Amino acid sequence: MFEVKHKDNLGRTGKFTIADHKIKTPTLMPVVHPGKMTIDVKSLGAEIVITNAYIIYKNDELREKALKMGVHRLIGFDGPIVTDSGSFQLSEYGSIDVDNKEIVEFQEAIGSNIGTSLDIPTPPYAGYEKAKRDLKVTIQRAEESLNYRKKMMLNAVVQGSTYPELRSECARRLSTMDFDVHPIGAVVPLLESYQYKDLVDVVMATVEFLPPSRPRHLMGAGHPMFFSLAVSMGCDLFDSAAYMLYADDDRLLSSSGTYKLEDLQEMPCSCNICVEYTPRELKSMEKDDRRDLIATHNLYISFAEIRRIRQAIADGNLMEFVEQRCRSHPRLLDAYRRFLDYQELIEKYDPVSKKSAFFYGGPESLKRVEVYRHLKRMKRLHRKRGVVLLPACEKPYSANLPQMDILFSSAPVEVDEWDFMVVDIPFGLIPLTLDEFYPLAQSESPSILDSDSKKFIKSLISKVLHEYDAVLVSRDLNEKFGLGFTYEMPAPKIEIPHRERLIAVADYQFGEGAGEALFNGNLEIVKSKRTGRIRYVYVDDELIASIRTSDGFIIPSWKGASLLHSKLDYPRCRVVVDGESEPFAREGKNIFAKFVIECDKNIRANDEVLIVNEDDELLATGKSLLCSEEIMDFSYGQAIKTRRGRR
Ligand code: GUN
Ligand code: ZN
Repeated sequence: MFEVKHKDNLGRTGKFTIADHKIKTPTLMPVVHPGKMTIDVKSLGAEIVITNAYIIYKNDELREKALKMGVHRLIGFDGPIVTDSGSFQLSEYGSIDVDNKEIVEFQEAIGSNIGTSLDIPTPPYAGYEKAKRDLKVTIQRAEESLNYRKKMMLNAVVQGSTYPELRSECARRLSTMDFDVHPIGAVVPLLESYQYKDLVDVVMATVEFLPPSRPRHLMGAGHPMFFSLAVSMGCDLFDSAAYMLYADDDRLLSSSGTYKLEDLQEMPCSCNICVEYTPRELKSMEKDDRRDLIATHNLYISFAEIRRIRQAIADGNLMEFVEQRCRSHPRLLDAYRRFLDYQELIEKYDPVSKKSAFFYGGPESLKRVEVYRHLKRMKRLHRKRGVVLLPACEKPYSANLPQMDILFSSAPVEVDEWDFMVVDIPFGLIPLTLDEFYPLAQSESPSILDSDSKKFIKSLISKVLHEYDAVLVSRDLNEKFGLGFTYEMPAPKIEIPHRERLIAVADYQFGEGAGEALFNGNLEIVKSKRTGRIRYVYVDDELIASIRTSDGFIIPSWKGASLLHSKLDYPRCRVVVDGESEPFAREGKNIFAKFVIECDKNIRANDEVLIVNEDDELLATGKSLLCSEEIMDFSYGQAIKTRRGRR
């Protein structure tokens, strides 16, 4: 049972229920060596831990104890415990002497909460045929494990080496079976050799085909430096043996890298250990004492990073956080750049509105999903014959444009219908009609352009030259981008009629035709006294919509929703609920994902939606908390926050 709370890119915060425990995700599961638990991981933030069933199984004393008193008492942890199967030992030593059935049944017998079958961790860059053969065994053993377990939850590890198509195929196959968590396996060698870019391909090829309703565990990724990018790719669980392994080697983890104790003049953080001890004091200690103190620091740092990531998702600024983290190592920057190549997939999951503004963090930001989505959604807008390109200014642009009497064109033009667009970073071209819409209005970028930004803008301008019959540019743009327009033209009056603005916003938000559906008739506008912006829109004396101040979104009234419903063909903007939940929807109760039987593929988290029954009768309006793929996949938790029902 897994429920998503906040989303950002492919990342999510959620609640994972195991037995009677509710675990906040993303989270880190410290690896606890059975019989060697020397530090109190719970007090450092661990809500769930992972241990190795094979090690217990192979040791007579541990095995007897575990069978008698259970794994929870054996390792002294009363929260959920995940057990691994010995596959890691298999990959390290080539063979192990236990079979799949034995080890799965053993895990259940010792009371593990989530058990793991005996997958085959095919290393990166293995031969294709070997990877494929191994994968067949991995999938078969996972499938068998469903018959061996009684009540225990089950991991099903995704393998496939560095072949994206094998990873995808594995994810697809496992997703049709009844598993609870999907670890992504055999990535440790990629992490150890800093091949983060290849790891991105592995994770993205996997996540695309895993059911969003199941938590994903990036196995063996214990360095906090990589957590935020992994979370952005949709990983929910991490395990850390690193905290102890690094400590044993006198190395201190940080969110941007690793420190060797021998190099430290100063303690690098503000945890209890780093405040209380100096490097000199640590160096002079007994090995075991020192190891436990460094391990404590390492876990402290790791959980601090996890908490900051969860906060960033709730705030909607996970990418700003990732951009900072990925600047601490060029290989991480590579990985981030590779991640940005998956815009189409990311766009499906990224919410359309967030609490935070978009902060430009460098040229990579131009490839962020918000920019990709904007350029895609621009195609939804009606286009006039000519366009006027205006220089960036303070926001909102339409209220702060400089006085311009003369504009420039490449040839004399005779067009009397103009679109007006501001040229700015990161979104490139922003129609004045959309200058209050998220994230176009809620973005910050430096005023001095880097060369990538200049190139980006230039390429957009050259596209515009093909799309319009006439293009006028300001003197400033003409010079800055070397356009060489020589004809001077009197500037057309910049005017954005209310109806035009509203239609553009509606088409951009809901898709083509929504504006005509909503704002056709005699318009009456009520503006906010404080901001001067449109707050309420009446058409022929009926309230059609309000405009949300924070992000400029149109919130349709009941009448507005009815108009959208009658003018936009099924299934556009629709979420279809079953008969059982119809009365609840009509009463304005929130919609749970399990009652949804169909929905528009284009629905994104935070979209305004129409809630209908199987006969496409409008029952209610609401805000989607999830995207279409998630709405259809989850059978637990809320999908739509209902605004009002039909009564
Ligand atoms: N621990 C680290 N990598 C792996 C893996 O691929 N499979 C299993 N079962 N455990 C692991
Ligand atoms: Zn510290």
